[in-house]
Amino acid sequence: MNEGLKNRFIGTLSQKELLKLYAKHVNSPKVRLFKGFGLGVILGERKGVKIKTLAGPKPNEPSMELYNCHVCGGVYNLGHGNQKIVQILKDALDSGLDIGDHLLLSEWRALLGEKIAGLMPPGITKTTFGVSGGEAVDSAIKFSRAYTKRKKCISAIGGFHGHTGFALAAGDPGFKENFLWNLSDFKQVPFGDIDALKKNISDDVACIILETIPASAGVLIAQEGYFSEVRELCDDFGVMMIIDEVQAGLGRTGHFWAIYGGLYEHEKVIPDFMVLGKGMSAGIYPITTCSYKPFIEKAVFKDDPFIHISTTGGSDLGCVIACKMLDIQSDPKFLNHVTEMGKLFGKGLEEIADDNSEIINGVRGRGLMWGMEFNSETLGQLAMLSIIKEGVLQNYCGNKKDTLIMMPPLIVKEKEIEEILKRIREGVKKIKHLA
Ligand SMILES: Cc1ncc(COP(=O)(O)O)c(C=O)c1O
Repeated sequence: MNEGLKNRFIGTLSQKELLKLYAKHVNSPKVRLFKGFGLGVILGERKGVKIKTLAGPKPNEPSMELYNCHVCGGVYNLGHGNQKIVQILKDALDSGLDIGDHLLLSEWRALLGEKIAGLMPPGITKTTFGVSGGEAVDSAIKFSRAYTKRKKCISAIGGFHGHTGFALAAGDPGFKENFLWNLSDFKQVPFGDIDALKKNISDDVACIILETIPASAGVLIAQEGYFSEVRELCDDFGVMMIIDEVQAGLGRTGHFWAIYGGLYEHEKVIPDFMVLGKGMSAGIYPITTCSYKPFIEKAVFKDDPFIHISTTGGSDLGCVIACKMLDIQSDPKFLNHVTEMGKLFGKGLEEIADDNSEIINGVRGRGLMWGMEFNSETLGQLAMLSIIKEGVLQNYCGNKKDTLIMMPPLIVKEKEIEEILKRIREGVKKIKHLA
């Protein structure tokens, strides 16, 4: 990296000073939490599959170098600083492109919309854009309500769809109670339990929203046939099926979609809505999407094309990035690479689990999205810290703290997988005596 530029943008102040500023002006509980973990925590240099933290805050405390298996929940699918993406952003900026103007039509929204339609499961051809995953989920629930003229929404216990309005309402109580946002029209049922859905579905439900692989709930893998049955139930009751692939989509499973052949190769379920985020931006320029079947459009926009807008959602620059990112990640060679690396990673994790069965219940996952379940929440959290100290960034699932979620960048190479596994094994070994 160009040292002059680095000094202007990374490590502008000491970690100690930055922590003070962060606590004072941004979020003091977060600073307290990380200090309690005893970790250097401010993100510094980042490249490919690795990140570094800034040095300090204690004198002589070195910067940590970490393999990024958190990838911000699927943002860094292409690793950090993918040069093809960086270059196209520079070119787009040099050409004079900016976020566009939501009053007008956008060349790049049209081009990205076409590209997404070409990649979606058949029949999902329309797209509306956002900046965050929560915004895209809000759009899907909002559009479902407009189409069905119903208000109710069913989601999964432990699932996570973001912290905005409807997305928050579809999440767990822990995130919403403080904000007085327990809306009676929003109900949660256990994930993977078709009987629970049958008990709660009725002809006044607007939508069911599910992650294909719920990450925060513990990287849960539904039994084969579950999503097909959800589809049937939705059809029977005229309910919209919303699939959130913010984390599990875009090649994470080794298939472009998780719902359409990624979970079980021959099970190809077509939802009414597909929500994407995170990896769409390649971590370079934010953009998210909510794609849906065309029959829904008329009910949403009626006669007012401005009834649903987002000034910065679907910016021209974001669309340019997303188009390039989709080209890279939908390439069969790329997806094959994910499958191969996923096999290695999954096998390695299974071996670690088998060798440490006193503290690990098991592992589950698809492609490069894996959960490792420990015997207790305490062990899960200790394992997370121990593995970070060995140089692998990952974390426990937000709504299931006994399970670590591990998602290497999709560009990870065989040697890197081997090194990551070695470090995970070492981290686990160091807490085994605590069982
Ligand atoms: C599955 C899923 N959906 C939606 C979201 C919300 O995305 P954002 O944080 O960009 O609003 C997240 C974020 O972690 C997520 O994991």
